Amino acid sequence: MPVLSVIGTQWGDEGKGKILDLIAERADVVVRYQGGANAGHTVIVGQEKFVFHLLPSGVLHAGKRNVIANGVVLDAGQLLEEIDGLEKRGIAIKGRLFVSAAAHLVFPYHKALDRASEGVKGGTKIGTTGRGIGPAYADKIARTGLRVGDLYDPRFRGRLEANVAEKNRMLQGMYGAEALPFAPILDEFVGYAERLKPYVVDTFHLLREALDAGEYLFVEGAQGILLDVDFGTYPYVTSSNSSALGIAAGTGIPPNRIGEVIGVAKAYTTRVGEGPFPTEMPPAEADALRKKGEEFGATTGRPRRCGWFDGVATRFAMEVNGVAALALTKLDTLSGYDALQVCTSYEIDGRTTDRFPCGDVPLDRVKPVYERLAGWREPLTGMRRFDDLPEAARDYVDFIEDFVRVRATIVSVGPARDQTIRR
Ligand code: GDP
Ligand code: IMO
Ligand code: MG
Repeated sequence: MPVLSVIGTQWGDEGKGKILDLIAERADVVVRYQGGANAGHTVIVGQEKFVFHLLPSGVLHAGKRNVIANGVVLDAGQLLEEIDGLEKRGIAIKGRLFVSAAAHLVFPYHKALDRASEGVKGGTKIGTTGRGIGPAYADKIARTGLRVGDLYDPRFRGRLEANVAEKNRMLQGMYGAEALPFAPILDEFVGYAERLKPYVVDTFHLLREALDAGEYLFVEGAQGILLDVDFGTYPYVTSSNSSALGIAAGTGIPPNRIGEVIGVAKAYTTRVGEGPFPTEMPPAEADALRKKGEEFGATTGRPRRCGWFDGVATRFAMEVNGVAALALTKLDTLSGYDALQVCTSYEIDGRTTDRFPCGDVPLDRVKPVYERLAGWREPLTGMRRFDDLPEAARDYVDFIEDFVRVRATIVSVGPARDQTIRR
């Protein structure tokens, strides 16, 4: 299959970065297709830790081409910072990073609007990353956005000026926030234009030619299905199709060329930001799991909310994404529990269902129904074969794969590349 994708099947932070890096050896091209610098993908190589917000997680493998495709909203300053950071660490990416001229740009007014809109929402805020994602995608859909290619168009200045004026009317009039001066924004982006130029191409044709040549394309999702704007827990979602459904639109890869989807799921569940979370643990239990799993956001540093594995939601994720194989991560974090719980159905107004509601029932009304499974005490981080795992850990993995109806071909027992069991 020439196109393989790695997609989050929960609310993000499933360990996509680790899994993508792990399998990127086999790729020719690694592609990000949606989201922006709201993502935080951690890759550990030896003693070194890398966190990517925009760069595809395959970038540490020499000789691979990396593409930021049209569906991404690009924070140019953040990307250049990541490039500089890598170059300081001896990893050059000139000549193997390609940024779509059709990707939309994130401007300072998008971030200001993101913060301002969250600020006035009070109890109904989404808990965004503050990276300007929603407002940038809103402009794309409203047809007022500016794209990477526009940086090189003589009309850029005038269009940016008009946008800044319009956004200032919103910032001041709707939110009572401060206006942003135009000149520094223009200067900033003129600088970015120059520095980004060597990377900017038409990625549609680059990807098409790669496909025609029979090259392996690996597509990296950001966020996860439950944050997908159509199939996630709306309105507590991100503003893109973070499921596999977004790949075609976000890259131009025809739907009939999209092959195997690897779904990444944590062995429990976490969520950052607001919104319903049926299997969320009470505070003391959540604190304990957060500490064991070091569950703090890779982008914002916020403590992640923690809960048990939600089989109903994750099986739904398998269905929407057409997942062929599951990568189950952070199994090591669950060592030390007497018993574990997996949610196998939801109770809604006295009725029980194992279907994840798609808009018909508000998710904050469901109560999780759990299956109790035996826990294990042994640390798993040194284990490399499935048969080495304690029986209860094997049973836990078997239970999850039976329930979600997808085989866990990768079981991850630590953040490092080698802390991985393949089956
Ligand atoms: P992503 O956004 O899906 O790429 O995930 P993040 O990087 O935001 O969060 C996953 C965190 O878990 C990172 O700190 C990883 O280094 C770490 N991680 C990934 N797999 C494992 C695992 O199997 N065990 C443990 N203990 N940590 C892991
Ligand atoms: P990765 O790729 C976890 C969450 C935010 C918020 C909601 C909307 O690392 O898995 P946004 O800034 O996108 O408008 O915020 O989505 N969110 C993430 N949560 N992992 C992510 O990315 C996320 N990207 C956005 O916390 O609830
Ligand atoms: Mg993350």
